[in-house]
This record gives sequence, structure tokens and C-alpha cells, in this order.
Amino acid sequence: MIESESRYFGRKQGKSFQRLSRFQNLLFKPSKLFFQKIINQTLVLEIGIGDGIKISKDAFSNSKKTFIGCDIFMDGILRAARHQSENNLKNLFVFRNNVQDLIPYLPDHSLDNVRIYFPDPWPKARHKKRRTFNEDLLKQLLRVMKPGSCLDFASDHGDYFLDSMILVSKFDFKIQGNTPNMWQYSIFNAIGTKYEKKALDKNSKLFYFSVLKSN
Ligand SMILES: C[S@@+](CC[C@H](N)C(=O)[O-])C[C@H]1O[C@@H](n2cnc3c(N)ncnc32)[C@H](O)[C@@H]1O
Repeated sequence: MIESESRYFGRKQGKSFQRLSRFQNLLFKPSKLFFQKIINQTLVLEIGIGDGIKISKDAFSNSKKTFIGCDIFMDGILRAARHQSENNLKNLFVFRNNVQDLIPYLPDHSLDNVRIYFPDPWPKARHKKRRTFNEDLLKQLLRVMKPGSCLDFASDHGDYFLDSMILVSKFDFKIQGNTPNMWQYSIFNAIGTKYEKKALDKNSKLFYFSVLKSN
């Protein structure tokens, strides 16, 4: 089994693990050589793919883009690996890794799009340092994002959203779009992930931003 190295506090596997475990042999460890081979493609990195369905659907319907997904939660990784195998998707690669352990393998300025959808909010003040999207991660992302590439963030946690906006504002990013409602849920920014649906079912407020890396 491919294990992640960094410390992690969330769930590592769930109820569907046994059913999907036969797809474990499709997983492989990230390497610099692997990413060098796909550097000329349009690369999308999704951090925390959850149940793996969004990235699988996107890879199926966008053959011109290559999707890299990572998560520590094994079930979603295996579900995406199953989609990759059953649909013979050549543009989907998923890694059972903490994103912090994956980024060091990515070449400089290789990513066109980074997505962080509904990361675990860790709402208690003493747990905030566990949040995935933090200054350390953003600095690592800046190395691997192309100039003009896009960072998409969504959360149903207002405090996490604001902290993330403040964080990106300290770096060289431009906000994409300028309509008054662009932060809110709408048909234009709906993502369709499991956690977005959960938040909608609870009537929670949802928040979105997309920023472009300047150079
Ligand atoms: C709340 S879920 C959201 C999943 C999905 N994006 C969605 O919108 O349904 C957050 C996911 O991020 C994963 N995750 C948390 N920290 C991570 C990290 N450092 N690296 C990779 N995945 C991480 C968790 O395992 C979990 O699957």
C-alpha cells in the first residue's frame, strides 16, 4: 500500500475500502521522472479529491487536460483509479499522498490550474494549523504554478474562506471576475462535489474564489 509521509489528522479509509481494494495495484509512487513526462500537457491539480468522482468525471469529459489528484483518504483514490482503468483514461493520475509530499516532485511552472474544493475546515482555533490551505502550501504552489495559471478555492466555512482570501492577497495573484455575487454559490461556480452537495443540503453558505497567478 502506498502511504503518505506527512502528519495527517483526517480519515484515511472508509466503508468502500474493502470493495475497492483490488485497485490498489494501479497506484504508484510519485516521481520527478513521471511528472517530467507529462510537463507539456495542460495540467490540473486537485488537492483533496474526496470521493474521487468529480476528478474522474472531469477527466472523462476533458480529454485535452490532464488531471492529477491527491488525497490521503484511500476510498476516493481507489474509486478514481477504478474509473481510470474502466474508462481507459490516459489523462487521470491519482496519488494517495498528502499534497505536501506530492508537490516536491512537480517541475517548476508546470500547473495550469490548482483546485482546492471544500478542504476540511478545522473550525476550532487550536486546530487551525491543521488546515491544508496555508502559507506553507501556497508558497510551494507558487513554485509549481505557471504564470497566468488559476487557483480555485471553495469552502462552506466563512472563516477559512476569509483567511484564504487574506493569504492569497499577500502574494502576486489577481482576482478573476468582478461581479458582486461572484463569491456566492450559483450555476456559474457550482462544482458538484460531494461536500458541496452536503453543504447545500444543510443550507450552509458557500464561498468561492478564483485567482490568477500574475507571473
Ligand atoms: C472535506 S473533504 C472534501 C472533498 C472534496 N473536495 C469535495 O468537495 O467533496 C476534504 C478532503 O481533503 C483531503 N485532504 C485533507 N488534507 C489533505 C492533504 N494535506 N493532502 C491531500 N488531501 C487532503 C481529505 O482526506 C478529504 O478527502
